[in-house]
Amino acid sequence: MIKLKVNGRDVSVDADADTPLLWVIRDEIGLMGTKFGCGIGMCGACTVHVGGQATRSCITPLSAVAGASVTTIEGLDETDSHPVQEAWRELRVPQCGYCQSGQIMQAAALLKDIPDPSDDDIDAVMTGNLCRCMTYLRIRKAVRRAAATNREANSNV
Ligand code: FES
Ligand code: FES
Repeated sequence: MIKLKVNGRDVSVDADADTPLLWVIRDEIGLMGTKFGCGIGMCGACTVHVGGQATRSCITPLSAVAGASVTTIEGLDETDSHPVQEAWRELRVPQCGYCQSGQIMQAAALLKDIPDPSDDDIDAVMTGNLCRCMTYLRIRKAVRRAAATNREANSNV
């Protein structure tokens, strides 16, 4: 039994220690928002946060997250109103949507590390998240929109 926290909830998982976190999240815990794309850490579709860091869950074994705090797209914000999610909706970023939970999780981690990113910062961090529908320009705009929302919120504090 391996214990971890997922979206703030304590869970115990009875699976092989080398089971990829992605399959634990989907098959053992039943959260289907995190997607399988390549399975080799190259597309970003499976991105979640582990201890607040963007992490490719397809290449992260369960043993590596024992005792850790994992956040999936379902837990990013309890009302799905994280500034990144709001910006994604406002700018209608998704097309087919398959890559988008990974994009959002990557973008949320980016803004935590770099609250006011330049286009170069955005491109450098988001480049590992592939989108077959080529939504890259809207993604960049939405990251900037979310950063502006955060700035406004902070200036009103
Ligand atoms: S499915 Fe994990 S990086 Fe592609
Ligand atoms: S929106 Fe279709 S793969 Fe990105």
